[in-house]
Amino acid sequence: MARRPVRVCFVCLGNICRSPTAEGVMRQLVEAQDLTDHVVVDSAGTAAYHVGERADRRSRQAAKTRGVALESRARRFVDDDFEAFDFVLAMDAENLANLRALPGAADFAGQLSLLRDFDSAAPSGSDVPDPYYGGDAGFEHVLDLCEAACRGLIEHLRDEGRLA
Ligand code: 4NP
Repeated sequence: MARRPVRVCFVCLGNICRSPTAEGVMRQLVEAQDLTDHVVVDSAGTAAYHVGERADRRSRQAAKTRGVALESRARRFVDDDFEAFDFVLAMDAENLANLRALPGAADFAGQLSLLRDFDSAAPSGSDVPDPYYGGDAGFEHVLDLCEAACRGLIEHLRDEGRLA
């Protein structure tokens, strides 16, 4: 019998720059590797400032040049999300701390960690830096970091036999 899919939620602050980028990059990798039956991808923010908005135009533009469509609408991460996901992956230490402070975090059966923990080339504790107040290069950098980490995440899932 086929296993149920692994469910992954990427989390940043606003859910308009970094986590939608990780979601789009991961979805593209999952589709390219024919894993759509095995991995479900979503994203959310720890803050509510941008709820309902599309991804930031700069994130969408940068992603589009790599053939990645960012189609999410911003939503806030809620405690029930700990029931809905196997991996909750924060973009930086501050968002990870905010997630750990939620009531549901204590009983979370899955993995709550930093996205870049899955990038074997990244030092432990590495963030995906917030590009919101910077220039276009920051958005390209986010794409590079998300791609490296999402490749590592898929490798990890394969190694764990979660994609069979
Ligand atoms: P994100 O970026 O957390 O990667 O979506 C930000 C988006 C909005 C704000 C900060 C960061 N903001 O302050 O509104």
